[in-house]
Amino acid sequence: MSDSPYQDDRGNKDRSITRAGGGGTSQHKPSGGTARPAPGTPFLIGEAMTGGYGKGPDILHACTIAVEPGEIAVIVGPNGAGKSTAMKAMFGMLDVRSGRVMLDGEDITALSPQDRVVKGMGFVPQTHNIFATMTVEENLEMGAFIRRDDFHDTMTQVYDLFPILKEKRLQPAGQLSGGQRQQVAVGRALMTKPKVLMLDEPTAGVSPIVMDELFDRIIEVARTGIPILMVEQNARQALEIADKAYVLVQGANAHTGTGRELLADPDVRRSFLGG
Ligand SMILES: Nc1ncnc2c1ncn2[C@@H]1O[C@H](COP(=O)(O)OP(=O)(O)OP(=O)(O)O)[C@@H](O)[C@H]1O
Ligand SMILES: [Mg+2]
Repeated sequence: MSDSPYQDDRGNKDRSITRAGGGGTSQHKPSGGTARPAPGTPFLIGEAMTGGYGKGPDILHACTIAVEPGEIAVIVGPNGAGKSTAMKAMFGMLDVRSGRVMLDGEDITALSPQDRVVKGMGFVPQTHNIFATMTVEENLEMGAFIRRDDFHDTMTQVYDLFPILKEKRLQPAGQLSGGQRQQVAVGRALMTKPKVLMLDEPTAGVSPIVMDELFDRIIEVARTGIPILMVEQNARQALEIADKAYVLVQGANAHTGTGRELLADPDVRRSFLGG
């Protein structure tokens, strides 16, 4: 199985995956026109989250992560810092002992992951994020499990965003390259028509060219108006596209700012960007 970067799906159309329609703008901020919370109001926030796994020790220590409407927020930090744990806490896969999670102004701290999906959260976990023995198309159909309406338009939009998936729609997803499998995972999450998309290391294990491709697609999704919260190992590239960025260290917020601010921060540069 070749893992070579796919060249054949560049230049796809900028079609909307949002519930309300919308479209691309030259910047990935939405151009307005729809009712939105006031600027600075997070669409999704995990506020002062403290908690760990089961009866184990706290992994997160008053950790706060937020993403605002139309923005890309990025979490970076060393291995084991708690980045995935913070994402899982926001998705309801972990009990927070204190703190809360708010979605579009509603306290969802007590909701199950399924109920959060119904509320509009799309989550692509770091591992086991596709059904390897099922075809690409079956994976997308699984993504639509909560929907009662006809999801075929959304599938068309996912195929427009990731044309290689249409080509490979009848192949078992496990046979695809790493970058293509990540597209399946993101596509599956988009099938729920999420109001916010959370991605845990969407570019893990792919070549730099495929990474750039995936980032382009993620920006494209953000342009349709879906705010994105993303954990990234490729800190420099992630900060370059981040409206808001968080450096987590040992389960706590170490640095917060715009991507540009953190890229310019001498501490962040020295500790996380190799100088
Ligand atoms: N299911 C689990 N049960 C118990 N402890 C866990 C579990 N998953 C992670 N941990 C612990 O939580 C801490 C944070 O792990 P986490 O996976 O959130 O880090 P991360 O920042 O996502 O790391 P990476 O960059 O390697 O993905 C680690 O000490 C890890 O051992
Ligand atoms: Mg992780």
